[in-house]
This record gives sequence, C-alpha cells and structure tokens, in this order.
Amino acid sequence: MEIGQHQVFQGNAVNPVELIKKKREGNSLSEEELRWLLEGYVAGTIPEYQISAFLMACFFRGMTEEETLTFTRLMLHSGEIIDLSDIPGAKVDKHSTGGVGDKVSLILAPIVAACGVSVPMISGRGLGHTGGTLDKLESIPGFRTDLSIPEYKAVIRKVGAVLIGQTGQLAPADKKMYALRDVTATVECIPLIASSIMSKKLAEGIDALVLDVKTGRGAFMQSYERSLELAQALVRIGNGFGKETVGFITSMEQPLGIAIGNWLEVVESVECLKGRLGHNDASSDLMEVTHVLSGAMLMLGRKAKTIAEGVTMSRGSIADGSAYRKLLEMVAAQGGSVEAIENLERYPLSRHTIEVGTMEEGFIAEIDPLELGLTSITLGAGRAVMDDKIDPKAGMILKKKVGDRVAGGDVLAVFQTDRDHVLQSARDRIRASFKIQPVPPRQKPLVLSYVEKDGVKTWM
Ligand code: URA
Repeated sequence: MEIGQHQVFQGNAVNPVELIKKKREGNSLSEEELRWLLEGYVAGTIPEYQISAFLMACFFRGMTEEETLTFTRLMLHSGEIIDLSDIPGAKVDKHSTGGVGDKVSLILAPIVAACGVSVPMISGRGLGHTGGTLDKLESIPGFRTDLSIPEYKAVIRKVGAVLIGQTGQLAPADKKMYALRDVTATVECIPLIASSIMSKKLAEGIDALVLDVKTGRGAFMQSYERSLELAQALVRIGNGFGKETVGFITSMEQPLGIAIGNWLEVVESVECLKGRLGHNDASSDLMEVTHVLSGAMLMLGRKAKTIAEGVTMSRGSIADGSAYRKLLEMVAAQGGSVEAIENLERYPLSRHTIEVGTMEEGFIAEIDPLELGLTSITLGAGRAVMDDKIDPKAGMILKKKVGDRVAGGDVLAVFQTDRDHVLQSARDRIRASFKIQPVPPRQKPLVLSYVEKDGVKTWM
C-alpha cells in the first residue's frame, strides 16, 4: 500500500530517505524496496535528488550479488524484452566496455553471421574518449541504426546480423538512470555498471553473450583488478539469467589497429574483412582480438566445439570472402550504401591531412590511447558535449605501433580534420602520445584472461 511518499513493507512504513539511509549504512535492500525506488523514479514520484543520493550510497557501499541481480531484473523489466525465439538457431552477442580504435563489432558481426550464428547487437555511441559503434556505422551513407523492433527482427531473420541503438522501449529505467549517473559522478561503480550493461543486453533476445572487458590506460577500468571484478560481475549476471556468458580481459594499452575516427575505422574494418589487413601488420592486434571473440561466440552458438575451432572458422570466413559478403548484405539491409563500401576511395576527404613525424631514433615503447582518443574529439571525430555533431571523416591513422623501430624523420601518424584551429595542438598532442626509447619494449599479451562461470583462466 502506498501512502504519499511512503510505502508499507512488512508492516513498516518507509520513505525514500529511510531507504537511502539503509544503503548508506551498508545494508542491502530487498526486491520490493528496490522496485519501489526504481518504479517511483521512472514514474517521477521519487525525485532525482533522492535517487542521486541513493546512487551515491551504492557507489560507496556497493551492492550484494543478490541486489545486483535484482536491480538488473528490475531495469530489464522496465521495458520490452525482444523475443527472437521464432528465429531459428542460436543468437549470440558481444559487448565491449569500450576503447580507442575498437572497431571489433564491425568485423565480428559479419564474421559470426557468415559462420551461421545470428548476432543481434544493440550498440552505443562514443562515451568520453572512447568511440561508439553507432557513430562508426552512421558514417556509412544512408546506414540506419534507428530500426524499429519489427525491422530489427526482419534484418536478423534475413541477414543473421543487425546493429542498432538503444531504443526508448529497451530498459528505459537504465536509460534514465545512466543519464543521471553521468552527471552525479556515480558511473564508476561495478554493480551499477554491470546491471546497466546487462539489462540492455538481456533485452536484445540473446541466448548467450561474450564480453570484452578492456583494461589499461585507454579503458574505462584502468587497473587489471577492477577490470576482472567487472568481468566477473557481468559473467555472474548473464549466467544468473540463464544466458551462457563468458568474458575476456583484453589490453587497451595502445589503440587497437591503426584507425581512430568513424569512417577511417570503417575503412580499416573493410580492409580486414577483405583480408588485406590484419596479418603480420599494424592491424594484427585488432584481428587477434576479433578472432578470439568470434571463436567464443561460435562456441557458445554451438557451431564450434572449442574456442580454438571457432577461431579457425572465423579466419576461414575472411579467407573465403563470406564475411565480407555478409557485411555488404548487412549494410544493404540497414539502408546503407554498398557502393560506398565497395569504393572506399570515393568518400570525401578532410580539408587538412597532416603528417606527424619524429626526429628521435629508437623503438616505440608506448602510445597513449587516452590522449589519442581525446585528441580525436578535437579533430571532430567525437563529441565534447552531448549535442555536438560528429565529422565522420575526421580522425587519424597510426603509422607506427608499440615495438616498431623509428629513425629520425619517420611519420608516426597522419590526422584528418576540417578544423583550422586545432592543427598545431593536435600535432603536439599526437607526437607527445608516442614514447620512444633506445631498446625494444617487452611484448605484453593482448588477451589477458578468460572469465567463465567456474572461474578465471590466464589466456595463452
Ligand atoms: N555502459 C553502460 O551501458 N552502462 C554503464 O554503466 C557504463 C557503461
């Protein structure tokens, strides 16, 4: 029974202040208490200042495993859950916590679909210094990411892969709360992040999920320990909802591949899908991560017995051209220009194309992904504020990666922009992002750990 801003739970009348206090003191909230807070927030009967205080209490006190599962369920059920059960075969998605130059989804979705597992993917836009799959796809002329749910189902049925943005119908409580967390310094809280991500993923209609939790300077979670904690929370939730979920922790110590910026990343993805990039070159790290994640998706989709077998299938789909053909089908089904993909060189160029060189000699020891991600925003490739318009052609191509030898006069990167006023600062920031030392750096693994229901393993 509800009495104004009070609710009676087991004979006791409580109000939001008491629930905030309860969390602030480190106690856990019951399902009915969490439901009442969340429903009141969505309906507008509990004001944002009280939910902000509650979120801050969660930030400092955390949530138990049970509370996290409950919170996820409540956010999931605040909207529609897409039912794909009438579409034959397994539906498996991949979610990445985001990085710089991370265009894995653009390559992996056609690979996995070409190998016979459907990929229903709901993606995000750029967040902070990280790029977003939706912005990359929208750099393809005509490509629609705003499909309705019936259109989404029609594309997955016909093509086997679909990539759209979060609609107002999917996990609307999370959509509203994420915007509030963003402006109340309550984003970086593992139970809140995990329930936010998983409420959206579970609404897509998936049977299984592969997670790519990034770690390092260009990642959302910079330390390995925090990344592992997040991966374990995500894997626990997925399996708790009966969806087989596994995760990888992968390095974001330098940008993935060579391109940063929306259309430039599409170009790199197309070249990788055509097999022209990604073998013993600067895009090899991108393809290593892509094949491992695709391999795991094929295993969860029961097309491969092991991840290794899935990796072989994934490589095979590049070699026989089926993954590239699937990309063209996907682009056409979502209204995009196949002609633009088939004729990459016809895309408009930026007013400025600038090379950034070095006079130093030695080996590249580090390339700061955070700084390059932030610099890309100044070029026009990302948003400084929410309403900024993205310039799809802006960005940069790395000409050197960690471990490469450089001699005086070598080009480190080339950047593109229409903005006259950023040229000098971009040049300086890009150059400063490359650390050069006299000896080769120690090679570090790209895929660090594999997280599944039963535990964590070091990845070979
Ligand atoms: N991405 C999400 O969807 N939610 C978070 O809380 C953080 C990243």
